[in-house]
Amino acid sequence: MLEANNKKVSDQELLKQKEYMQKVKSIVSSKGRPMKFYSLAMGCQMNAHDSEKICSMLINMGYTQTFSEADADFIIYNTCCIRENAEDKVYGKLGYLKHLKRKNPDLLIALCGCMMQESHVIEKIKASYRHADIIFGTFNLHKLPELTYNRMTSGDMIIDIWEEHGEIIEDTSYKREYPFKASVNIMYGCNNFCSYCIVPYVRGRERSREKEDIIEEIKGLVKDGVKEICLLGQNVNSYGKTLAQPVTFAQLLKDVNEIDGLERIRFMTSHPKDLSDELIEAIKTLDKVCPYLHLPVQSGSTKILEKMNRRYTKESYLNLVEKICTAVPDIMISTDIIVGFPGETEEDFEDTLDVVRKCGYSTAFTFIYSRRRGTPADTMEGQIDDATAHRRFDRLLEVLNSGIHEIHSKLLGTTANVLVEEVSRQDEDIVSGRSEHNTLIHFKGDSSLIGKTVPVRITENKTFYLMGERI
Ligand code: 5AD
Ligand code: SF4
Repeated sequence: MLEANNKKVSDQELLKQKEYMQKVKSIVSSKGRPMKFYSLAMGCQMNAHDSEKICSMLINMGYTQTFSEADADFIIYNTCCIRENAEDKVYGKLGYLKHLKRKNPDLLIALCGCMMQESHVIEKIKASYRHADIIFGTFNLHKLPELTYNRMTSGDMIIDIWEEHGEIIEDTSYKREYPFKASVNIMYGCNNFCSYCIVPYVRGRERSREKEDIIEEIKGLVKDGVKEICLLGQNVNSYGKTLAQPVTFAQLLKDVNEIDGLERIRFMTSHPKDLSDELIEAIKTLDKVCPYLHLPVQSGSTKILEKMNRRYTKESYLNLVEKICTAVPDIMISTDIIVGFPGETEEDFEDTLDVVRKCGYSTAFTFIYSRRRGTPADTMEGQIDDATAHRRFDRLLEVLNSGIHEIHSKLLGTTANVLVEEVSRQDEDIVSGRSEHNTLIHFKGDSSLIGKTVPVRITENKTFYLMGERI
């Protein structure tokens, strides 16, 4: 019953927004010239995917896309607040937009995403960036048409921030970056409250989409020519736990694996604290699930992991990696690492290097700890000075890069199936794409290969990517 009601809310809301789209469209077409939008997604894949939805709404409102801010009549930044520098970038860009607005009186500036969920940010924008027109958060993305219409007809700055999520709005129309691969949200929010992280505060509590809605969306994508999908969630391991009829992530994978015409399934992110044996089995046995796993370790020190509230130890993480590698010997593992967390000693950092050496990551996203207002780590004692954090960061990269080079050396002479994404910008005779292991591979070819999966023999190891020859 609850399910049926949610569906109704979602459908009605979408209908209402469609009406607003039409209203905005008639205003846009009355301008007598093509009106263009510029969209920028900062931060993670979730934001990139949300921005695909934003682009689709703007196109339906009569705008066409431009990749130059100076040409745009509508500029929208989907912001990130995970680290301080992401926020600084937004303020810097907003300063520049003031000057564009003077040149183009039609220009509307919209800000959305995680940063807008922080009250101190809204205060700062209201005080110092009055030229922003439309401001909304992470919970009401679908309202963009209505907010745009209100701004166009009232002339006032529109601020609409929800404190918490409403029903999941099932809108699966979005403009994809690639015709052959797509991201699919399976859940929203996060309940983990890692002590450094702001995501649970700005994206709300964990909620899963119904399995049937996800399957239906993927079937539609496949019909449209999509071969590879990436299932997105802050921690996909807890997918389905709160649904009226609970489902596990591994069960979802099994059903997605059945979809005819789909070639590859990826997913991210899996939290090491609750990665189940059932999931390992699914990775091992389901033919479309890629042998690649993003498993953020964050730190190798059990003491720091405890302060981070990660709920695993150095040993349990290493055991988990070993278990996965035993079950799926050709798997590639990538990770996220933070250096300079409060209280991190030289010894703690050595533990991180030790984990890196032992795990043999194929890629890693590395970050210097950034203090986030309102998170428990912000008020912890023992904040690390910049110089120490930077020194450790550089040392970490050295160890990581030599590990990545070594892992990739093992692929020399093997065959990879590359889903070709694009022609190289540097050399028009070279195309590039990703293997089932998510490794970036370049080889000789032309644009006719884009969107095709081709076997390639690996010939050269360039550390962060590989060169190959089409077989
Ligand atoms: N400082 C630095 N890195 C962070 N991350 C999350 N919060 C912070 C922070 N305050 C990193 C984590 C996470 C990735 C998405 O961003 O490594 O896995
Ligand atoms: Fe942030 Fe931890 Fe949630 Fe990931 S699992 S989004 S790091 S709180």
